[in-house]
Amino acid sequence: MKKYNVAVVGATGLVGQEMMRTLERRKFPVKNIKLLASERSVGKKLKFKGKDVKVEILNKNSFKGIDYALFSIGAELSKQFSPIAAKSGAVVIDNSNAFRMDREVPLVVPEVNPDAAFKHKGIIANPNCSTIQMVVAIYPLHLEVRIKRIVVSTYQSVSGWGKEAVEQLINETKSIVAAGIALQGSGRVYSAGSGRPWSASSGRVYSTSSRVNSTTTKVLPHQIAFNLFPHIDKFEENGYTKEEIKMVQETRKIMNEQQMRITATCVRVPVFISHSEAVNIETEEKLTADEAKKILSKAPGVVIVDDPANSKYPFPIDATGKDAVYVGRIREDKSIPHGLNLWVVSDNLRKGAALNAVQIAELLIGSRGL
Ligand SMILES: NC(=O)c1ccc[n+]([C@@H]2O[C@H](COP(=O)([O-])OP(=O)(O)OC[C@H]3O[C@@H](n4cnc5c(N)ncnc54)[C@H](OP(=O)(O)O)[C@@H]3O)[C@@H](O)[C@H]2O)c1
Repeated sequence: MKKYNVAVVGATGLVGQEMMRTLERRKFPVKNIKLLASERSVGKKLKFKGKDVKVEILNKNSFKGIDYALFSIGAELSKQFSPIAAKSGAVVIDNSNAFRMDREVPLVVPEVNPDAAFKHKGIIANPNCSTIQMVVAIYPLHLEVRIKRIVVSTYQSVSGWGKEAVEQLINETKSIVAAGIALQGSGRVYSAGSGRPWSASSGRVYSTSSRVNSTTTKVLPHQIAFNLFPHIDKFEENGYTKEEIKMVQETRKIMNEQQMRITATCVRVPVFISHSEAVNIETEEKLTADEAKKILSKAPGVVIVDDPANSKYPFPIDATGKDAVYVGRIREDKSIPHGLNLWVVSDNLRKGAALNAVQIAELLIGSRGL
């Protein structure tokens, strides 16, 4: 079997690390691996297939002889270095949002639009993590009854914002737990930890120490421990965040449905890994919940966990470290003639990033791809 020289760009990051594990686990035919990151990481050694590999600094000469360059650095750096890598003859699969809406760049989810991958001109874009898991779950239903409108609310983990956001959740949680946690139950206030005094006002519990010192907050816009906020990426003038707009535009591009009506609310939650989504779809024709389950039970990349009588539905801690997109709470939306509600959960570092990227490379080399 032919083997390929692969560069992992951003190898020390959350996605880069997952890329390396995914290449190993799926036995991608790697001849040589090159690990690239910033100056900060030069000299670090990372294990690949049991061997230590030195991290090198990313520069314009990094891509000589590279066949596939899997990028997971920020958009600005991708814009700078992806064209250089492509010019050197590598096929770039980029995880950032730098090229996703570029007409010349395919945006690929192998379960949905695998053929688009072959139209690349050197760069292929990997979609946003929340978009990937949603389209994997809804596309098989779209093929059956055509989706007219999507209303999605996301519950996104901190790892979706990189390693520093994970550190922020850890640090804030530690500092709050160390100070003590107040719980309210049947009118009584319980405190744990240091047992600091708590004040109750109008039946609710307030604690100054449930807010962490603002100096602990780093990369996310607010405290995330014991909190959540509807703010992922920057706000645009129309009141939506960039993350919400990405979900709309990318879904349309991947599903090749430019007129599809889509609206999204993206929320950051204090979960380490795996995003969850409440997805409502309105379809042209009727599809019962049972019919939807039947279709999804055969859909590539999808696993159904849907047994509400036994409190079984997907959740992030179960999806973490797995490849599948998990779907549950499949039920008819009784407020419209043809509608369904779904609960969709997947590991944002795997299917939402590294796995999807490696699957694209697999498609191109003619191996399994799914
Ligand atoms: N996390 C997700 O779920 C997810 C999903 C889809 C797409 N993405 C996208 O993937 C990209 C990386 O995300 P991540 O979560 O892996 O972030 P991360 O954990 O913060 O890692 C960032 C990586 O970029 C490298 N880097 C930073 N500045 C650099 C420079 N000047 N030159 C070379 N390398 C540099 C870092 O190297 P050092 O360690 O040396 O600083 C690190 O390897 C982002 O564009 C993100 O939007 C992330």
